[in-house]
Amino acid sequence: MIDVLIIGSGGAGLTAALNAKKEGANVLVISKTFPTHSQTCQAQGGINAVLNENLNDNVENYINDTYKASHKLGNKSTIELFCKESKDTIEWLDSIGVPFSRTKSNIIAQRKFGGTKAERTCYSSDYTGLKILHTLYDQCLKEEIKFLNEHQLLNLIVEKNQVKGITAINMIDSKVKEFHSKTVILASGGYAGIYHQFTTNSYTSTGDGIASAFRAGAKLSNMEFIQFHPTTLEKKNILISESARGEGGYLIDENGNRFIEELKARDEVARAIFERTHKGKKIYLDLRHLGLERINEVMPQERHLVQDFMKLDMESDLIPVTPSAHYTMGGILTNIEAQTNIKNLFACGECSQSGIHGANRLGGNSLLEIVTFGKIAGINAAKEAKKESQYITPLNTQFIKDKKSIEKILNRENKADFYKTKKEIGKLFFNNVGLFREEKKLERALDYIIKKENEISYYGIEDKSELYNKNLIEFIEFQNIIQLSKIILKSAIERKESRGAHFRTDYEEEKIDFDKNSISILKNNSLEISFEDVL
Ligand code: FUM
Repeated sequence: MIDVLIIGSGGAGLTAALNAKKEGANVLVISKTFPTHSQTCQAQGGINAVLNENLNDNVENYINDTYKASHKLGNKSTIELFCKESKDTIEWLDSIGVPFSRTKSNIIAQRKFGGTKAERTCYSSDYTGLKILHTLYDQCLKEEIKFLNEHQLLNLIVEKNQVKGITAINMIDSKVKEFHSKTVILASGGYAGIYHQFTTNSYTSTGDGIASAFRAGAKLSNMEFIQFHPTTLEKKNILISESARGEGGYLIDENGNRFIEELKARDEVARAIFERTHKGKKIYLDLRHLGLERINEVMPQERHLVQDFMKLDMESDLIPVTPSAHYTMGGILTNIEAQTNIKNLFACGECSQSGIHGANRLGGNSLLEIVTFGKIAGINAAKEAKKESQYITPLNTQFIKDKKSIEKILNRENKADFYKTKKEIGKLFFNNVGLFREEKKLERALDYIIKKENEISYYGIEDKSELYNKNLIEFIEFQNIIQLSKIILKSAIERKESRGAHFRTDYEEEKIDFDKNSISILKNNSLEISFEDVL
């Protein structure tokens, strides 16, 4: 019997697995990709922590910076715990072998990121996420944690508001399977992939875990808050880390003038760039003064990416940049224990709204979040599993339903091309649900999504084979995209104010009435949006 079933093998899932196993639980990690490929490996710049309290920084400052960035939507006690534990979290990562960059005196090096004056971001050159992920995976292998890769989540099995397992499709043979477990941890990532071709994320970031939790009755929260990274390679959406500006890089316009303080909060920098690029102007990142030696030391990966994709050299050329969708602050609402409103269902990492980021996330806080809350979710799920000695096997209703629905998709005629619609949604979201939003455009986008939702049975797949049917898996993701797009749009329409990443040109001010989390829930088969106090 599985005690703790973890969906997703990024940093949050792997940390949860290690901690649940340490508590003595029988753990299985199910993932649609291979652990070493997960989105975590794309995080370049670093992970925040206060390693030493001194004149330059202390935990109190870190708490204040994180809360300030959240625009009052962060949960104060959760942020406090997160920041206070940051030193232990880094020390744990260091102890299991994460190769952090170090100073000449052999202490973990820290650099500047936006939204703070302190040098608080620990890093491993510009491969921080990748190094953390691979080290965690090594540990999981050492602990003999079981993995089932290439399985796409379909739905949660929930009876009387208690999770009992999941259904998934084996990507190798397209067979629908059910997995029973005492507890489930969703660590399945965010939904920036909706901004198809306008995102730094992999195209697999389609919010599958969040969509399945919503269908099962979980509360989603703050789905309207989507962070745009200010500096991605023009037309390529490839991330150039905030650390490039932390190292002293400048943002300049076509005339060579700086136009914004480079390390302001991400939303402000991204808007300042977009205001210009949107009008056809070019904005450049200027790193030339850093010199080749420093560039090679702190951003070797980015230097190669710039060479490969732009045919430019950081040490001698200006790098054209634009903002792209990078991170989704919204997700499954969790409390400080990583619990959702469904019994025995936990969530951690980008798929959760844990109360840390609110309306805007500080760079370097997402890697810390996956490790901090991966640990909490793993320990708590293992503890809850111990209480389930009387576990009753669920009915196979969800399994039968999902099996039929997959058969239907495989058998029906393909009357409309969902890839074309997916591309249109990416563009529609970038233009209408991007850095600047207004009611008319949001409504227009919502009309489009509702139309597509009503036409969903016209969409089909060309490939009818059962073996490695990528077409089928991408269609399942597409259905999740449609479902989440509607939630994002309705939440964005209802939040009639500007706050952090949600900037409304028709309501430019932050309003006290909206010092609240938006909540999306499925009731009697329809979406309800409300606002709840931040606890
Ligand atoms: O700019 C970056 O390196 C991104 C970091 C982050 O999103 O936390």
